[in-house]
Amino acid sequence: MGFITSDALAETGYVILDDHSADVDPAEWLGLEYVRWRSSGITRFAPLTSYAGDVDCNGFWNHTPPRTDKDGVWVASQIAIAPTLQQWALEPGAGVGRCRVIELQPNEYADAVYNLHQDDNNRLNDDGTGWVVRGFFNLTDDTESMLILRSDRFDPATEVRLPLRAGSRIVVDTQRFWHAVWHRGTAPRYALIASWTSGPELDAYIAAHHGDPHPYTVTLDPQVVDDAQVELHRRIEERRKAFEAQGIVMEPPTPLYG
Ligand SMILES: [Fe+2]
Repeated sequence: MGFITSDALAETGYVILDDHSADVDPAEWLGLEYVRWRSSGITRFAPLTSYAGDVDCNGFWNHTPPRTDKDGVWVASQIAIAPTLQQWALEPGAGVGRCRVIELQPNEYADAVYNLHQDDNNRLNDDGTGWVVRGFFNLTDDTESMLILRSDRFDPATEVRLPLRAGSRIVVDTQRFWHAVWHRGTAPRYALIASWTSGPELDAYIAAHHGDPHPYTVTLDPQVVDDAQVELHRRIEERRKAFEAQGIVMEPPTPLYG
């Protein structure tokens, strides 16, 4: 049968929508409760939804009973602070699974390349239902920063780089693409991320906002890219050896994480 997917994402797997024009008070993201999550170290997340409505970032499948990344329960204390962000996540009319604000500290291109990962958006998702993808709304005006997507983790020729000005809206099949953000600012970057269920509602939203599957991609100095590839392999090898020293064999090389 197969999953219901979005026609708008069929060609490239990502689209840029028109910028969101609505104003939102920075207090909506600065006032939220943030928690640290996973291997990204200093990155923090403020969940707006969760498995059961608690301030919790864990995958819905990591709870009892497990379920797929759909039907997120709004966190009352958070949406009281961020009602506009909740509206943005609800705007497509598509089902919302996990929804949170990310706080990312400035990093280097090589860090972003090392952080490339695929999201685990569709674990336990039932065949015949909507495939889960993600929407990104940049909240801070990070014109020099970019969302990096690669279809092949180790091949920079497959890389696209999407700029992150305030109001930019990107919909990506983040289980298909290796992705991470290179944040070149001096202050943290904030973005709203929503897991959406593919279907006619999401297609209509993408169409209404002129989803472009061939957006502008930032050009980088090839030497910067080459240097980051060397650094990527150096860090992977360093990590492998560190784990090996503890008797842990890295298999698979990097886990999916959400
Ligand atoms: Fe991700």
